[in-house]
Amino acid sequence: MRAVSSLLLLVALPAVLAVKTEDFKTCSQQAFCRRGRALSERAEKDPLWKSPYSVVASSVVIDSDHASFAAAVKSSLYPEIKFGLDVKVHEDGVVRVKMDEVDGLRKRYDEAASWALVKEPKINPNIKWTVGKQDIRASVGGADDVEIVVAFEPLKVTLFRNGKEQVVLNGLGLLHMEHFRTKDAPKEPEVGEDGTQVVLETPNPRAWFEGDEEDGYWEETWRSWTDSKPKGPESLSLDISFPNHGHVYGIPQHATRLSLPTTAGENSYYDEPYRLWNSDVFEYLADSTMSLYGSIPVLYAHNAESTVGIFNAISSDTYIDVAHPDTKSSFTHWVSESGILDVFILPGPTPADIFKQFGNLVGNPALPAHWSLGYHQCRWNYVSSEDVRSVQKRFDEEDIPVDVFWLDIEYAEDHKYFIWDKKTFPDPVEMTNDVSANARKMVVIVDPHLKRVTSYPVYKEAVELDVLSKTKDNNEYEGWCWSGSSAWVDFFNPKSWDWWKGLFKTTQSKNGKYAWTDSTSDVHIWNDMNEPSIFNGPEISMPRDNIHYGGWEHRDVHNINGMLFSNQTWQALKARTDPPQRPFVLTRSFYAGSQRFGAMWTGDNLGTWEHMAVGIKMVLANNLAGFSFSGSDVGGFFGNPDPEMLARWYQAGIFSPFFRAHAHIDTKRREPYLLDEPYKSIVKDAIRLRYNMLPVWYTAFREASTTGLPVIRPHFVVFPQDESAFAIDDQFFIGSSGLLVKPVTEKGATKASVYLPGNQPWYDYFTHRIHAGASKGRTVDVVAELHQIPLFIRGGSIIATKERPRRSSPLMKFDPYTLRVALDQDQSAQGELYVDDGVTFSHEKGQFVWRSLKAQKQGETIKLSSHDLASTNLAVAVDGAALTKYNPSNNFAKTIESVRIEEIVILGLASKPSRVIAGKEQLEWDFYPGVAASAKEDGAPSQLFIKNPVSSISQDWEISIDL
Ligand code: NOJ
Repeated sequence: MRAVSSLLLLVALPAVLAVKTEDFKTCSQQAFCRRGRALSERAEKDPLWKSPYSVVASSVVIDSDHASFAAAVKSSLYPEIKFGLDVKVHEDGVVRVKMDEVDGLRKRYDEAASWALVKEPKINPNIKWTVGKQDIRASVGGADDVEIVVAFEPLKVTLFRNGKEQVVLNGLGLLHMEHFRTKDAPKEPEVGEDGTQVVLETPNPRAWFEGDEEDGYWEETWRSWTDSKPKGPESLSLDISFPNHGHVYGIPQHATRLSLPTTAGENSYYDEPYRLWNSDVFEYLADSTMSLYGSIPVLYAHNAESTVGIFNAISSDTYIDVAHPDTKSSFTHWVSESGILDVFILPGPTPADIFKQFGNLVGNPALPAHWSLGYHQCRWNYVSSEDVRSVQKRFDEEDIPVDVFWLDIEYAEDHKYFIWDKKTFPDPVEMTNDVSANARKMVVIVDPHLKRVTSYPVYKEAVELDVLSKTKDNNEYEGWCWSGSSAWVDFFNPKSWDWWKGLFKTTQSKNGKYAWTDSTSDVHIWNDMNEPSIFNGPEISMPRDNIHYGGWEHRDVHNINGMLFSNQTWQALKARTDPPQRPFVLTRSFYAGSQRFGAMWTGDNLGTWEHMAVGIKMVLANNLAGFSFSGSDVGGFFGNPDPEMLARWYQAGIFSPFFRAHAHIDTKRREPYLLDEPYKSIVKDAIRLRYNMLPVWYTAFREASTTGLPVIRPHFVVFPQDESAFAIDDQFFIGSSGLLVKPVTEKGATKASVYLPGNQPWYDYFTHRIHAGASKGRTVDVVAELHQIPLFIRGGSIIATKERPRRSSPLMKFDPYTLRVALDQDQSAQGELYVDDGVTFSHEKGQFVWRSLKAQKQGETIKLSSHDLASTNLAVAVDGAALTKYNPSNNFAKTIESVRIEEIVILGLASKPSRVIAGKEQLEWDFYPGVAASAKEDGAPSQLFIKNPVSSISQDWEISIDL
């Protein structure tokens, strides 16, 4: 957001509150995008259009590693310009296609992938390329027959599965890599013999499809800003088609539906392409292709048999058109301002494969600190230490759980981050300790702009180290932000990294550099405004011709900029203690790779029902793109939501991987305890439900951190063949738990219509009412009065919860569990539970408990059991750490040895048991007859409650239910 409005937004938001679209460029306002879209229009109009790019067959060289080949590429329209193609097949079947200009006048930016990739991918040594007259091809493995074919003329890359086209690069011939040229002074026209003017051929002739004039090649002025463009034109256009795939998802961040609506073709839903250019968009629209704070250039295409994808490692301004030439296929056109072609083709074929393949590239999400899955209370601003203390007191008086209190920019003297305003925060360490005393944390904001006053040690040291961003003339860049005249650390400069780490140390360092000695290791960090947001810059950001470390222009690296900042902050917090504790860093700007370092939120949403609804879709899109730890400001950042909206927003927010309430400085206070009844109790119940379900969330995060599977999942991920649900994005699943939720996001709603997929029964989470399984899914109408949340358990699932409310999540550590066993039609069910200390990295060394929970029918007995999962799944137990052995009674497991299961509820049992025993011991139980899981009718299910059945969650156990 851009500036503090002095007009208090004390009433509900007026309808007119909306983005200033004029602050941001549309495609037609940018020369490179105009050129890219014009190219596709010209190609479309010309029936003979054929891509001018071709592979020089004689140049193909297969590398000694067999997995890759290189070849020269030529453009028939620029025969003297050389391009190089490089194609590699990774161990997991991912195909990397790279193309760059060779021996060009300058160098294109080629480092985006190196920031995004978690490590250099392993290549497949068993690939055999066959070079033919017209193409080079190789089978890339997998259970299916997957083949990559690079056609020579024109250049076209196709991934086939079972002979069917899955992903095609340059199939429509829109590939165009604008080569570097010289800027020649325009020649004076000469006068010919007949007196007419003759325009001399310029030394830089343009291919006809590049248009009639040099459109914005060497300089571009937009509003009051002139971009000097010293490198000239260097854009990259590429079409990527997904034949036979009718839905595309991904490329966050946009406020739009999950299955991306079209931007091109007949009757397209939007006119503007999706844009990726990290931006601080004030009062953004709830339905738009405009770019927002972060970018992850990954796109998935899906049909009932296959999921495929691409990751386009580009970090410059990028526009993406989406069209469906027919209902079964998808077409995309990517136009980027600069950078090399570096596309990773993800062959799938299942959603789980895609997430694994993408995770192998950019890394899986970090396993968050357990406390960070609790409730976060934020506002701009809690104004003093006393304010923080009294907010905490009010939460405790009302018995509302909360784990984290947040401080926005007003804690910092003159917005000089790291420097407390001692008038209002005279005792920051004591204040933090008061919060820590209740096993809670603080999160404090540190923005990237540094106030340019030499009395500010952080700025002064950055100047001395020479790590600040530079203008095109190599001077310190000065811009305007919260702190007034400001400078920005250039985190591309490795010299800044150790220094940045030092700032977060809580003890004075020996080298005399500034350290945040009046903070504690319970203070975690919020990195905001890191797009970067610059109030007086073009599109509220940095000039594109600014220079970063290595000589790259800001235009080349813009979308990565924010990630480097939060990455470095995460490293700094990790280095703060020995042994390290899991850092929590919230970032607003992000790129592929950010998920390795923290959480994100969807920025400055509005307190409207539309924003509440689209926030869910945005968080789902982020989850698909690997960044599961995401959420939206509960209540909306701007405006004053009425109590009904706030209650519904909390009910939605508790199902967001990151759950934080936040509000603009001009809004009324809206902490849950301020609500009147019945709203206060409704919100309290919602927050308590989040805490009850923390075992489910944490288990889902473990899975995400090792498999790349999203924490929250849309239908197509869980039921990839159920075409009727490919576009559903207002209900979703939590991890692999079998829980399906449909948050209510409509004013005045008293019921909800929910699609229940699959053929198994679904149980209402609260009433346990059974919705009988149908052969192919069904839609049911359920009551959803204000206090009710449509939440269901799929038959066949076991859900572990903790049902005792506490003030904060660490205080629940030794609380007993409850299991809900929702039987399927075969009277069986399964689930998982993962537990570790939640704060250190000791889980990477095998200090955790990971249990399989099972109910299985054996004759006339249902066996309910728990066994260790880690010993038999060492390779996937912990991300990246490749455990070689695991001891189920490790030290951590011992610490929770006494944590019991206080109740097991079994839903849908076919008949009343004759006895329930654990070993020889008879257990105490109650049975209420009702509908069985296999019945074809709805109603109250049979319910069996077993009291105190298990004395230790971390050990094997078995219970027999004799029918
Ligand atoms: C913009 C952020 O998006 C918002 O959450 C924050 O409150 C303000 N900056 C002030 O720091």
